[in-house]
Amino acid sequence: MTVCREDVVALFRARFGGAPQWVVRSPGRVNLIGEHTDYNEGFVLPLAIDRAVWIALRRRSDRRVVVHSGDFRADAEFDLDALAEEYGQRPEGLRQRGAALAAEAARGAGWWEYLKGVAWSLEGAGYRLAGWEGVVQGDVPVGAGLSSSAALEMATARGFAACSDFAWEPGPMALLAQKAENQWVGVNCGIMDQLISGCGKAGHAVLIDCRSLDTQPVPLPPETVVVVLDTTTRRGLVESAYNQRRSQCEAAARTFGVQALRDVSPQQFQCQAGQLDAETARRARHVITENQRTLQAAAALRRGDAAAAGRLMNESHQSLRDDYEVSSEALDAMVEAAQAHPGCYGARMTGAGFGGCAVALVRADSADDFTRFTTAEYTRRTEKVPTVYVCRATNGAELT
Ligand code: GLA
Repeated sequence: MTVCREDVVALFRARFGGAPQWVVRSPGRVNLIGEHTDYNEGFVLPLAIDRAVWIALRRRSDRRVVVHSGDFRADAEFDLDALAEEYGQRPEGLRQRGAALAAEAARGAGWWEYLKGVAWSLEGAGYRLAGWEGVVQGDVPVGAGLSSSAALEMATARGFAACSDFAWEPGPMALLAQKAENQWVGVNCGIMDQLISGCGKAGHAVLIDCRSLDTQPVPLPPETVVVVLDTTTRRGLVESAYNQRRSQCEAAARTFGVQALRDVSPQQFQCQAGQLDAETARRARHVITENQRTLQAAAALRRGDAAAAGRLMNESHQSLRDDYEVSSEALDAMVEAAQAHPGCYGARMTGAGFGGCAVALVRADSADDFTRFTTAEYTRRTEKVPTVYVCRATNGAELT
């Protein structure tokens, strides 16, 4: 079910009476290419999609935040003055606490912790926040790898910026939302999801340099569409595997004597790979070649060469499957189904991996046939029914 502005305004009226002062829309994302590169200070090429988290809100005169979630049909309330103390009092160190929160959130409980975390992070950076009452509702599927949590965080930040009257800058706000996710919720993610949710541009993917946080919109070729292919599989072990991959990358960077794998060229890797054990070398090779592919794919899209961009996406999938080992049977089946269609320029798994979604770049005039074909083919191979949808690239978090 999709959600629109009217839905959250109606929900606000029903729950709080009267009209909201602001309505925020903050999108989920799909990453075209540049996977597991953000925490290596490399390049990513995601787009903000037409699936979003919406907040309708009204300022309060006190420092309380009172929220109703339309998705979970639940209320939550917290005091902005109590957050620093709550954080300080966490008994078992924030990692364990955070992991517990993340597990809760994945089950659909604890959604308000994302709001609290962003408030805590903003206040910690010196923003003096006003309280508000409001409703939250979204249509980014939870746990599918389309960054529903980053969308919720950035929606919260955008709402606070409106009612507390401070300037909205996607870059700094994304860093504070990431801090909330890392330190309050306890998920060790990179910067991609929050940043694209903040800086997305309609009709464009965005090339992000995850070191400088420079963002460059890249137009999507007009005769193409981006298709999200949800395997509907969800894996529980993503967290630990993700953290393990990060440690391997950091170890490889240390061995090469650089700050991050971003600093290693493919030539340098060829010469020095022997210093790493075989598995770490494969992990590093993925990251180093993926950075190259991402820059090449951005250049290909800029010159309207969807075929070249698609080939790079196919290579990316192979590298994620064989070198980084974060794909799954379901993802491979989906990607193979997509790649078998003549209208498909390229397809790959997207996001952290192990389950969730694949993404494909497809000829616009084949979109319907591609959707029917991949749905049937994936179902035939896995006996699971996927969710396939053509998505539109949209703007990042904004007041509407
Ligand atoms: C998750 C993280 C991102 C990024 C991707 C992999 O989505 O939240 O920061 O690391 O995995 O590219």
